[in-house]
Amino acid sequence: MNANALIYDPLLRRALSPLRRAVARMLPAGKDSRILDLCCGTGEQLYILREQGYRDLHGVDLSREMLEVAGSKAPDIRFYREDAACTSFPDASFDAVTISLALHDKDRHARRNILLEIRRLLAPGGSAAVADFCFDGASRFGGRFAISAVEWFAGGEHYRNFRDYIRRGSAPHPSRRCF
Ligand SMILES: C[S@@+](CC[C@H](N)C(=O)[O-])C[C@H]1O[C@@H](n2cnc3c(N)ncnc32)[C@H](O)[C@@H]1O
Repeated sequence: MNANALIYDPLLRRALSPLRRAVARMLPAGKDSRILDLCCGTGEQLYILREQGYRDLHGVDLSREMLEVAGSKAPDIRFYREDAACTSFPDASFDAVTISLALHDKDRHARRNILLEIRRLLAPGGSAAVADFCFDGASRFGGRFAISAVEWFAGGEHYRNFRDYIRRGSAPHPSRRCF
């Protein structure tokens, strides 16, 4: 199995736990809500929602290795190997769609397509939770430096996209709306 998928949770689970819980607080209270996590990676966000009692949980990712790790955690969460920008779900399939740490590395076109797909997938009154890097007046120099360094090491297109994402003020405005 791909090393990134194996080390992802041991390396990041603790650091990302507050983010997971913040995303969970943005979701509808009803435990029967249909929830989709796009670019779900190892499925940690969904696993935390399951612990909180949510029952109708779905994850999409392109990486077979990430999905293998995700699927080994909880057999009742459903995972799909698909592109987040064009999934096979019908319109209005979900009450909430989440996406974490998976926009900043993409070019503007891909980011927009994923956000449009989120809007398509949400049922009327549904909500989207987008969690990603944001450099604003509240962010500290040390945090900016550490994140920029990690992104620089990721290199090439990933780093160019990250710079563009930050320069444009992070997640595009529609991602902060409820649909
Ligand atoms: C940095 S990881 C974030 C994983 C997870 N959301 C989290 O918060 O830990 C980015 C994930 O997005 C997935 N990914 C990248 N582009 C994708 C796409 N177009 N469609 C679906 N998954 C994608 C990668 O395979 C990877 O698992």
